[in-house]
Amino acid sequence: MSPEYALEGLFSTKSDVFSFGVLLLEILSGKKNTGFYQTDSLNLLGYAWDLWKDSRGQELMDPGLEETLPTHILLRYINVGLLCVQESADDRPTMSDVVSMLGNESVRLPSPKQPAFSNLRSGVEPHISQNRPQICSLNGVTLSVMEAR
Ligand SMILES: *[C@@H]1O[C@H](CO)[C@@H](O)[C@H](O)[C@H]1NC(C)=O
Repeated sequence: MSPEYALEGLFSTKSDVFSFGVLLLEILSGKKNTGFYQTDSLNLLGYAWDLWKDSRGQELMDPGLEETLPTHILLRYINVGLLCVQESADDRPTMSDVVSMLGNESVRLPSPKQPAFSNLRSGVEPHISQNRPQICSLNGVTLSVMEAR
């Protein structure tokens, strides 16, 4: 679930892009995003990001996949997956961008930033406190107790 949907109930086509990115990273790694306990990373997105920024992306790969496709293509797929799970919906590609990124090696890929949910301190919590629109309101009802004089 994308952060804007999980935290704010906002759903858009970019939320689907987010879900696709999670699915793509699950397929590439052969691991599920939920119930992911490995190293110090919080989840699969955090784990993928930690490896990616250390230029160790190929360590994410499901060993079974490495025989089917050249490493530079698999690294491209991880790059696309990470772009799909960016914290801000505006930083995620559209689905048609994704199709051309996956299908055409000549398409230049932007560098991903840290994905959503990968770091509780810098990711989720400030987002809740600063950017969350008011989906609940304070109930301003007052009660007056009448007293006879
Ligand atoms: C692949 O991408 C390049 C660069 O964006 C573009 O010039 C080319 O037409 C694309 N090829 C296909 C088959 O879409």
